[in-house]
Amino acid sequence: MKARIAILPGDGIGPEVTAAAVSVLRDVAARGGHEFSFSEHLIGGCAIDAQGDPLPAETLIVAKQADAVLLGAVGGPRWSDPKAKVRPEQGLLRLRAELGVYANLRPVRVHPRLAELSPLKSDRLGGVDLLFVRELTGGAYFGAKTRTADTATDETRYTTPEVERVCRRAFQLARSRGRRVTSVDKANVLETSRLWRETAQRVAHEFPDVALEHQLVDSMAMLLLTRPAAYDVIVTENLFGDILTDEAAALVGSLGLLPSASLGDGTSGLYEPIHGSAPDIAGRGVANPIGAILSVAMMLRYSLDLPEEAGRVEAAVDRVIDAGVLTRDLGGEAGTREVTAAVLAQLAALAATREAA
Ligand code: NAD
Ligand code: IPM
Ligand code: MN
Repeated sequence: MKARIAILPGDGIGPEVTAAAVSVLRDVAARGGHEFSFSEHLIGGCAIDAQGDPLPAETLIVAKQADAVLLGAVGGPRWSDPKAKVRPEQGLLRLRAELGVYANLRPVRVHPRLAELSPLKSDRLGGVDLLFVRELTGGAYFGAKTRTADTATDETRYTTPEVERVCRRAFQLARSRGRRVTSVDKANVLETSRLWRETAQRVAHEFPDVALEHQLVDSMAMLLLTRPAAYDVIVTENLFGDILTDEAAALVGSLGLLPSASLGDGTSGLYEPIHGSAPDIAGRGVANPIGAILSVAMMLRYSLDLPEEAGRVEAAVDRVIDAGVLTRDLGGEAGTREVTAAVLAQLAALAATREAA
């Protein structure tokens, strides 16, 4: 198959981890006879430096025309002055909104070998297999903002159609997994959450084969640590989803491991690791590339219709972790390139096994 893939490396470790993920895509293309074409574009702080705009027009046009978009990370201390008028993060938020990618899928699986790295007792981690579906284009991130000298507001706004579509996506995904959805809100306090809960409840009637439960976000934050294996699909609004998924990263051992896919209806999918630009380790070749590599596995599955290839990339990553080729965030000594080379070697080994069969 042919696919046009837009690469937006961004800032900090973004270029290091996207380079790793692109080498995996190239390998998949070469082995399967696929034609993937790649083009690289600016986003975030580097785009502000070059063009004064965190999402240059050219980047947006290419992203919209692409079959899929891979993004590294944006932001960093250089652009973090609270008084700054333009910020790298605005570029990412605008890209998500322009692409209409309202459903952000963040799978969280604990690799048995890494259970000891979690701050939780490893007996709580057996069987953890979560899929967060985070609403990505609404809520406090996109509401009206005001600011005077001593007052600031961020409006949180949700409409029924916005909640319906993301909940529907969560229920559909639950059908291919454990058929359980936990909808997380703060319906005891927030009006937007009451709309959310009512809507989730209504959507549930379309999926009689999927069980729905509601959970308040504060208790969910605790339950994620006390009973993480008890949940399947967790659907929630933008801000709660941002916070809960970084919390979930503590279960798996490192933020550097978690991928994401952001999907809309018939638009280019956006794929990014959930971590940020990690300014503390940028430029040193030590960033964990696995979150980015697993993000391209999601790209293969959701945008390029190559589920077998996606499964192979995931299997290769599992084998690399089994073999103990780990970056420093996981207590290892391997660099970004060594881990990437190990993934490519496992892809080659998997291909050899297939040929032998
Ligand atoms: P961060 O995710 O960049 O880093 C948090 C911690 O995790 C750091 O100690 C970092 O070294 C570590 N870490 C993150 N990714 C890693 C990886 N792949 N390998 C090894 N260690 C890794 O979060 P932060 O420090 O709060 O934010 C830094 C900047 O990144 C901010 O400007 C923020 O806005 C931005 N950010 C961007 C995105 C994105 O582009 N999607 C996501 C989150 C944060
Ligand atoms: C993420 C990040 C972004 C978010 C920031 C950088 C805008 O934290 O992708 O999780 O909050 O969505
Ligand atoms: Mn985040």
